[in-house]
Amino acid sequence: MKVLYVYAHPEPKSFNGALKDTALAALQEKGHEVKLSDLYAMKFHPVLKASDFPERKNLEIFNPFFEAIKAVKTGAFSPDIKEEMEKVKWADLLIFQFPIYFTFMPAIMKGWIDRVLAPGFGFNPVTNSAYDTGLFKGKSAMIVTTTGAPKSMYSEEGAHGDLNRHLESITHCIFEYMGMKVLSSYIIYEASSMSREKGTEELEKYRQRMLDL
Ligand SMILES: Cc1cc2nc3c(=O)[nH]c(=O)nc-3n(C[C@H](O)[C@H](O)[C@H](O)COP(=O)(O)O)c2cc1C
Repeated sequence: MKVLYVYAHPEPKSFNGALKDTALAALQEKGHEVKLSDLYAMKFHPVLKASDFPERKNLEIFNPFFEAIKAVKTGAFSPDIKEEMEKVKWADLLIFQFPIYFTFMPAIMKGWIDRVLAPGFGFNPVTNSAYDTGLFKGKSAMIVTTTGAPKSMYSEEGAHGDLNRHLESITHCIFEYMGMKVLSSYIIYEASSMSREKGTEELEKYRQRMLDL
């Protein structure tokens, strides 16, 4: 299987860094082909901007939606976007790993989604290509994430409510919207206050999950 691993954590020596290294080793051990987008290490520019479109159709008013729909036809995106789009096209499975920041993904990853999974590329409302007819039909996607808060806080009865429900804005409204099959999210709660032993145990559990993909 071809796996694109999109990863966002600013510190390589973090628990998230160890999770990412564990996953890459396990996937390679299983013979999967893996490409990594390590967004902080790449200094990925997260802000959608007019220069993303080197062959602007409308120079008077910048409408990113229509520029993207048109750019998909000619491939006229900035080189950093094109490079990431090629990885997405290549992949059978996209894994997004990140620490929860304000019950969502870090801004750098949202910026990657805004710029790379552009209108016309993963979905196209103009041609009614979404969900069952999403342009990434045949691909799968999965979230791997860590929290600071305990599971009880992110449960249905907890103060925040079920984290899986919050993640639906990604799993349903982005992944399924683009036609992808969604694998169960892999969540490690209270990652910031784990003992070393518990951390080692969690890394081994995650290694098994990656081997079982
Ligand atoms: C800006 C910021 C926002 C955060 N927001 C949340 C949050 O909404 N919910 C939560 O449980 N933890 C939150 N955290 C805690 C991180 O999710 C937690 O520290 C991380 O998952 C631990 O993994 P690490 O040791 O690899 O960094 C936040 C941390 C930061 C820096």
